Amino acid sequence: MKILLLGGSSFLGRAYAAEALARGHLVTTFNRGRSGADLPGAEAVRGDRDSAEDLARLVEGRTWDAVVDTSAQQPAQAALSARLLRGRAGHYTVVSSLHAYADWGPQVVDEDSALLPCPADTPPGQPFGRELKAGCERAVQEGFGADRTLVLSSGLLIGPYEFGGRLPWWLERMARGGRVLAPGDPGRTMQVIDVRDFAAFGLDRLTDGTAGRFVTTAPPGRLTFGQWLETCRELAGPAGTELVRVEDGPLLAEGPDQVTPWIELPFWAPDLPDWQGIWRADSRRAEAAGLRCRPFAETARDTWEWLRTREPVEDTDAEGRKGRPEAPFRQGIEPAKEQRLLAAHG
Ligand SMILES: NC(=O)c1ccc[n+]([C@@H]2O[C@H](COP(=O)([O-])OP(=O)(O)OC[C@H]3O[C@@H](n4cnc5c(N)ncnc54)[C@H](OP(=O)(O)O)[C@@H]3O)[C@@H](O)[C@H]2O)c1
Repeated sequence: MKILLLGGSSFLGRAYAAEALARGHLVTTFNRGRSGADLPGAEAVRGDRDSAEDLARLVEGRTWDAVVDTSAQQPAQAALSARLLRGRAGHYTVVSSLHAYADWGPQVVDEDSALLPCPADTPPGQPFGRELKAGCERAVQEGFGADRTLVLSSGLLIGPYEFGGRLPWWLERMARGGRVLAPGDPGRTMQVIDVRDFAAFGLDRLTDGTAGRFVTTAPPGRLTFGQWLETCRELAGPAGTELVRVEDGPLLAEGPDQVTPWIELPFWAPDLPDWQGIWRADSRRAEAAGLRCRPFAETARDTWEWLRTREPVEDTDAEGRKGRPEAPFRQGIEPAKEQRLLAAHG
């Protein structure tokens, strides 16, 4: 098949490109050339999806069997590409997020859960908001045609080329060794998906022309936070690296050393009412349709291998733009703060 990847050069888009090329598909990628290298074998078209001129250049003289849109963040972007591609492609996959569901967080969500309100014609340039992904979904369904659109509501993605750095942060923290703050209940379950499994599932559904939507993440309950931490420790921690459990309470206590869940200790989701559904999205429809998720140990091993062997990267590009996806991850708890918390509560 001829497949257009809107993006295609980093993380999930890159995983789609790799899997599609391995299956013998003809791949076109469209991106600005900032976030990563296009894979050999793909036809790389440079351009900005916010620009109608660049998109017109992309579609000039080209058609595809299917489009995969991993990069839409603004409804206006999705509307523009969906309209332009309507007569030039047979199928459109838009990668959305569990964020788009109104009740994700406090509740268990599935494909029938209500989306956040955000119209398809939301003007461009909106500040980040989780409702924007809902607007992107609507824009593709309206602009391209819902009967040919597949919405994949992505759970938390991990795997090699994860420049956002949640799994990389934990692996690099373990590599520093010593006493490592292990937050909360180690038996609490998590729900993450390897980008390669996501891409394989997405390509299967694209190939069979499926429309509709899937909550696309691993089944709930197959990995605990304790197993996550222990796997990272075993892979990356030097001898003597010790996980030291600290309960949610002291970490959440107001004060100078209060810890921001999820951000300072990536993926730490404390036992709070608004977090009860975070790791419990209902992915049974995707499983029944063929989603297969590899063991976390394999994802962690491959991600650690990638981290240890990748080229060093700059956090600004030649034009001084900040926040490129390949920027070294700068979040995570301050080492001194972590050690203070361990001394007080560990
Ligand atoms: N990461 C997660 O845990 C997570 C969770 C839920 C949902 N999602 C969703 O999953 C999708 C994939 O996420 P990802 O992090 O892997 O992103 P991605 O697919 O790597 O998207 C970035 C790609 O899009 C290109 N791009 C970005 N802005 C562009 C523009 N204006 N014009 C042309 N190309 C552009 C980038 O290349 P250039 O910068 O070179 O242009 C890069 O190739 C996203 O839709 C995200 O919202 C992710």
